[in-house]
Amino acid sequence: MMPASTTVSKAPQAPKATLVIFGATGDLSHRLLMPSLINLTASGLVGDDLSILGIGRAEGDDEWLRTGFEDFQRSNCGEGAIDAGDDRERDAWMSLRSRITYLRGDMTDAALYDQLRTKFDQLDIGNAVFYLATVSQLFGDIAEQLGRVGLLDEKKGFRRLAIEKPFGHDHASARALNERLLALASEKQLYRIDHFLGKETVQNVMVTRFANTMIEAVWNNNYIDHVQITVAETVDVGTRGSFYDATGALRDMVPNHLFQILAMIGMEPPNSFDAEAIRNEKAKVFQAIRGPTADNVNRDAVRGVYTAGRIGDKDVGDYRAAQDVAADSRTETYVALKLGIDSWRWAGVPFYLRTGKALAQRDTEIVVVFKPVPFAQFHDTGVMQLPANKLIIQIQPGEGMGIDFVVKRPGPAIETAPVRMNFSYADTFDIAHTTGYETLIYDMLMGDQTLFQRADGVEAAWHALQPVLDAWAADGEPEPYVAGSTGPRGADALIERDGRRWHGLGS
Ligand code: BG6
Repeated sequence: MMPASTTVSKAPQAPKATLVIFGATGDLSHRLLMPSLINLTASGLVGDDLSILGIGRAEGDDEWLRTGFEDFQRSNCGEGAIDAGDDRERDAWMSLRSRITYLRGDMTDAALYDQLRTKFDQLDIGNAVFYLATVSQLFGDIAEQLGRVGLLDEKKGFRRLAIEKPFGHDHASARALNERLLALASEKQLYRIDHFLGKETVQNVMVTRFANTMIEAVWNNNYIDHVQITVAETVDVGTRGSFYDATGALRDMVPNHLFQILAMIGMEPPNSFDAEAIRNEKAKVFQAIRGPTADNVNRDAVRGVYTAGRIGDKDVGDYRAAQDVAADSRTETYVALKLGIDSWRWAGVPFYLRTGKALAQRDTEIVVVFKPVPFAQFHDTGVMQLPANKLIIQIQPGEGMGIDFVVKRPGPAIETAPVRMNFSYADTFDIAHTTGYETLIYDMLMGDQTLFQRADGVEAAWHALQPVLDAWAADGEPEPYVAGSTGPRGADALIERDGRRWHGLGS
């Protein structure tokens, strides 16, 4: 049930379009894109005028692609939407199914794009989104070929290009990729996806801040002592060794997912909820980030790598013994950073960021720790040290918010006790199970770029981290931590040096 005063806006149905998925037989397409399209169809946000054209290398036809997806769902999701699930979802799949077609081809071969162009002409396709569910190394080449055959030309309808991180692997390569793409398409045609922005609670940060006087009033360096952003994962590298070993935790998570959260916390109120107004404010935060410099990188940046251990009832092997990982790898699977935001609002407020794999608990959260009260009247009572107020924004697992504050313990004496006031999305709203990609796909079709990264933001984020990338490439290696622990000792030292502590994982 929704609370009585909920403000609901009924979203309109997306316009007629064709979604062209490069890499249609891959994991992203099967695990996230197709289920999201089913959910969007079931909710009526996309209609029966949406067509899907899947592109892949394997031999096959339309029916082969459709049954391939059904088989994937059955073996990975059990009784899912396409079988015994909700009627609405099953009907949605049956309706969507008939609108899925397949084009076989090698994405590095120019002939594929000539064929695609012919198909567009034959079917008289207008609006189209080209979703590049491929390795990032192909982004530039695919865009170039689409441009060559005139498919990025918007005379017949919108033509949008969707790409997913990584957008480069450092500042220079991110700039080069942006330049290449922007020579072929305008910024308005580019949808750089950061799937964290599809998560309800991440979007909720803006609403919480800008729709609540009592929050925004204390949202500055007068009241906030520091902010912690944690993305702790229990998963290990698994079968992603070849991607991950060349990437590492810093590149994989920080300039994108963690910085998006940081920007939501740090941005100034935009003049409107218009995409450009929001992206302008976020860009200002990225430009104002003061990351570790060459001089203090050893103090303000910590890298770790997991060694064999146990998480729950599962044994986890050493990272360096994992499939496709070099035995002498220096890649980090954990990173902790201390950053600042050089602005009037945030001067002097440290932001501590940490993320890692094979940790004790899955926990994605933002913890805003407030300053102590200026004067503790309770010194006669033995309660000298009052615990700080905290706002805890829980993103995963379970979405919600908590506020830690201090109350009087019942009884004749003045004794204080810390308590938590909790709000849980699941207990308050009737929330449908979603992948997080529904909003992103819908927004792409609607032409709303609010939740997508803009070129300047991407470059500023890499720029802020370049000194750490350079220092780590030059020498040293990550500090070991046991799989199933809370991370390397150095990460605790990083925050404890400032007289603070990490918020406990899962607490
Ligand atoms: C991806 C990273 O972008 O995000 C993965 O490449 C990471 O390494 C994942 O596991 C985390 O996303 P989520 O939605 O599972 O928290």
